[in-house]
Amino acid sequence: MFRKIFRQEKHCLWGKCASCHQVLKPATGPALAGLEDRHTWADHKELLKWINNPAAYLAKDSYTQGLLAQYKSMMTGFADVTLTDVDNIVAYINDAAIH
Ligand code: HEC
Repeated sequence: MFRKIFRQEKHCLWGKCASCHQVLKPATGPALAGLEDRHTWADHKELLKWINNPAAYLAKDSYTQGLLAQYKSMMTGFADVTLTDVDNIVAYINDAAIH
């Protein structure tokens, strides 16, 4: 029961990202499978900063500036997303990437 609710919760948060991201294929934004092997995203606090305010993050980070040049579309910020949410979203992505 708890596991089921937890899974639905993860799906629900992924819904914020799924309009622009897929796990395995690029869409409006990059495919997110294996994201913890790129940039500093293994550090979920860095990932949280990015998600909370992509414009501010990008202003001092050449890696995400490069992504913007490639995808030519600015990611929407989600100021209400928390570190726990980020842990859950990454767990969902990692799970979806191998299944
Ligand atoms: C409006 C579209 C949009 C939404 C919604 C969105 N993103 Fe993005 N995302 C992008 C784009 C476009 C980029 C590439 C950088 C840029 O151009 O801003 C990106 C880049 C990223 C990156 C870096 C990818 C890499 O390969 O290193 C991560 C991680 C990421 N987004 C996570 C998320 C998460 C998690 C959510 C949901 C909370 C989300 N994004 C919601 C469009 C979006």
